[in-house]
Amino acid sequence: MFNTTAWNRIRYGLYAPVYDLVADRAFRRARRLALGQVTWHPGMRVLLVGAGTGLDLPWLPRDIELHATDLSPGMVRRLAQRAEAQGRDVQAEVMDAECLDYPDAHFDVVVMHLILAVMPDPEKGLAEARRVLKPEGQLCVMDKFQTDEHPAGLVRRGLNALTSAIATDITRQARPLLSSAGFVIEQDTPVMMGSLFRALLARKGNTVSATSAAPHEG
Ligand SMILES: C[S@@+](CC[C@H](N)C(=O)[O-])C[C@H]1O[C@@H](n2cnc3c(N)ncnc32)[C@H](O)[C@@H]1O
Repeated sequence: MFNTTAWNRIRYGLYAPVYDLVADRAFRRARRLALGQVTWHPGMRVLLVGAGTGLDLPWLPRDIELHATDLSPGMVRRLAQRAEAQGRDVQAEVMDAECLDYPDAHFDVVVMHLILAVMPDPEKGLAEARRVLKPEGQLCVMDKFQTDEHPAGLVRRGLNALTSAIATDITRQARPLLSSAGFVIEQDTPVMMGSLFRALLARKGNTVSATSAAPHEG
């Protein structure tokens, strides 16, 4: 499968100048619904992982401490420009979601929009999100998922070889992914194209399956 972090850095650098044309208007409602599921409080420390050009910014409260990371420098540059244009204070950094440069239990909210279906190893991304979340922290996910009822069939898996290389993986299953990473799903809402795109709100559970624990997980 031609889906690697190195390739994603290259291709998202190429997509960055036109990303908003594809992902702004189309996902506005989905972003609003997903972020609307979070319980917000003033002063919360919030992390956007794989934040892209910052299209989530308009749907986030202003009275929070906001951090945003992405693999692609081109995306981070655009996000910083958007933040400045909106008069928002955002700490924007180039960072790999598989290896977040933050201490354990640092954030109240971690947002992962349209990244779990992009990363070659979403289990690692979720393990890192869990590590940096405070015990009562909230994980906000919005993405496209294969139904939880059964794994992808042969045709879908065949097609996935192409879609995962140029766009996103179409075989990922939300509940198995989040549960085995040690999250308890509190809300699971279809937000776009029937139930293809879903918004999930999850909290840290007490246990992680042995296979998905991050190396530095306690
Ligand atoms: C489909 S875009 C979603 C961007 C944004 N979250 C949004 O909702 O518009 C996927 C983003 O994930 C970033 N990305 C892919 N792999 C990553 C990784 N390993 N670490 C951090 N960001 C990554 C890409 O650079 C790209 O900006």
